[in-house]
Formats: sequence, C-alpha cells, structure tokens
Amino acid sequence: MKAVVWNHYGSADQLTYKEVEKPTIKDKEILVRVHASTVTAGDCEIRTLKFPFLLKWMLRLYFGFLRPKDVILGQELSGEVVEIGQGVTKFKVGDQVFGSSGLRLGGYGEYVAIPEKTQMGIITHKPEFISYEEAAAMPVGGMEALHLLKVSQVAAGSRILINGAGGSIGTAAIQIAKHYGAQVTAVDSDEKLDMMRNLGADVALDYNITEFTTLEESYDVIIDIVGRSEIFKSFSRLNDEGIFLVANPRFRHKLLSRVTKLFGSKKMIVDIASHTEEGLNELLRLYGDGLLKIEIDKIFPLKDVAKAHHYVESELKKGNVVIVVKESI
Ligand SMILES: NC(=O)c1ccc[n+]([C@@H]2O[C@H](COP(=O)([O-])OP(=O)(O)OC[C@H]3O[C@@H](n4cnc5c(N)ncnc54)[C@H](OP(=O)(O)O)[C@@H]3O)[C@@H](O)[C@H]2O)c1
Repeated sequence: MKAVVWNHYGSADQLTYKEVEKPTIKDKEILVRVHASTVTAGDCEIRTLKFPFLLKWMLRLYFGFLRPKDVILGQELSGEVVEIGQGVTKFKVGDQVFGSSGLRLGGYGEYVAIPEKTQMGIITHKPEFISYEEAAAMPVGGMEALHLLKVSQVAAGSRILINGAGGSIGTAAIQIAKHYGAQVTAVDSDEKLDMMRNLGADVALDYNITEFTTLEESYDVIIDIVGRSEIFKSFSRLNDEGIFLVANPRFRHKLLSRVTKLFGSKKMIVDIASHTEEGLNELLRLYGDGLLKIEIDKIFPLKDVAKAHHYVESELKKGNVVIVVKESI
C-alpha cells in the first residue's frame, strides 16, 4: 500500500511517500481503508519531539531511540472498514468510521489496523451526514475543546477568553462556548480574526497588537490553548473564582494547579482530555444540529504530507488541515 513514512526526528522534509506492507489485523482489530486524515500541531510536535525532557525520552523509547522506525504518522482519520478480526463485535465490513488512533497513529497510509476498543484513542461509526474530510478533522481538537469547556464549567453568561483560538482546538472551542451561552473573546493572529468572528466570537483580538493580559476586562475562564501567555499576568485578568487552563500544560502549570488548589479563589486546572465515544457523539450532535462547523483551511493529497506539515508550521493555518488519502492515490 502507499503511505508516508517517518524515519527521522526533525524536519518534515524527511517524511517519505512510498510503498509499504499492508497491515494485518489481530482478533479484536479492524482494518480501515483510510479516506482522510489531518495534520495537527500535535502531529508536528510528535515528529520533532517538541516536548519536555521526560516525555521526549519516553517517546523515543516508544517510537525508536535513535530514530522512529518506519512509523506512519497521522492521529486523526476517517475511512471504511474493509476487514474485521474474529473477536470484533462493534463493526462490520462496509461501516464508515472515524476517530483518533492516539499514539498508534497510522492515518497517512492507505490502510490502518486499529483495535475496536483502544486505550490510546477512539474509533466510532461515521454518519452519512458528515463528509470523510470533516469527520477526520473533528476528533482531537473537538474533544479537547469540549473537555476544556466542561472542566472550566463554562455556562450561560460566562465570560471566556480563548488564546490561540484560530487553530484546531480553538475553532471548535469558540463555537461550543457560544452554544453554552458564553460571551467569547478570541485571540489569534490578524488573518484569523474574521474567521473567529464568523464562528461566533463576540470580540476578536490580534495578539501581535493587543496583549490580552494588559486589558481592563476580566474573565471567568481563560483558556490558553498555546500556553504562551504569562501565567501571573493571565491570573490578574481572572475574576474571583475564575479558572485558567492550558491545552499543552508544562511543569509550571502543573505546579501552579497544585498551589491554587490550596490557596486563593482563582484556580489553575490541569486535566488531560480522554478520548471517549460520548465525546465524539456529542460533537456529532452539535455538528448535526448546525452548531459546530469544522473549519477546513487546506486539503492536501497523501503524497504531499510533507508540504502539509510545513504549512501547519508556517503559522498560516486557520482551523484544520486535511489529508485526502483514498481519493488521492
Ligand atoms: N489538537 C489537539 O487536539 C490537541 C489536544 C491536546 C493538546 N494539544 C496541544 O495544544 C496546542 C494547540 O493545539 P491546536 O491543534 O489547537 O494548535 P493550532 O491548530 O496550531 O492552533 C494554535 C493557534 O494559536 C495561535 N498562536 C500561536 N502563538 C500564539 C500566541 N502567542 N498568542 C495567541 N495565539 C497564538 C496560532 O496562530 P499563529 O500560528 O498564526 O501564530 C494558531 O492559530 C498544541 O501544543 C497541541 O499539542 C492539542
């Protein structure tokens, strides 16, 4: 089968489009013919091992100490089940599916073998009403957005600021927060302001012009999706009982979450999203009711995965970048 293979930690130039062996399935696995996948910021971070020291070395143990060994990247995917193992009960051949394969990855290949129930991600049925491309771009950013909004108890009338709102998590978070009745301030770069307003943001700010921590306004919830704001200045913009969250927590955030559990009324919450069937179903419901649009910026064919990774790293991406697999081979 055709796939894009990852053999070097570092530049996207090293991703190679080539013929590889088609995967075989175990008893409780399904074989999916991939129709679409995506390139998320997370995929680029995995490729370059842009992580804190400990996680970086744990990932080296998992993928390969000196280099990843013929790994096929791509966490998000949609496709059709073409084969099932004897122990599979949830799926049958011909089912349309979508989800996230977590660290099993595999989206940048014609076929991927996935356990029907996996600790690392979640695969479920794809309804006809959503395209393969949109379904592929829904799970990871969408579930992270849902999780952050639930943990912070955003509700009708909440004032929320989302920093880094123009990407995969942020575009979903703006819309879901509006659905919950919140008043949303979205922060990102200039090119994304119109898109964020169109998705429902009440206020859209360019971070190159306005440093949100210097504003007069205060918020019930601040979600720093990129984790680049200064923590204490961000805390100063929280109302009493306000909550601060980041999507990519570092050690300093975890430390502060412990401290704020014990002292003060403002809280830093660090809580990792788990990928669940309920989460995916809730996103599908919102999509089906016209409350969640999947913002797709560009679509690349499988052979151009390296170009797509460069594009995601170019700071131009609005929302999501999709890879079409089946139609492009
Ligand atoms: N995607 C997921 O589901 C997921 C799940 C868990 C954790 N995470 C982590 O969360 C982080 C964000 O994920 P994502 O997929 O949403 O990334 P993304 O699609 O790249 O979106 C991030 C957005 O933040 C903007 N940004 C960059 N610097 C900024 C700054 N200083 N102030 C305000 N905005 C800024 C970026 O715009 P410019 O590029 O134009 O600057 C971009 O639009 C990543 O580190 C990822 O690993 C992601």
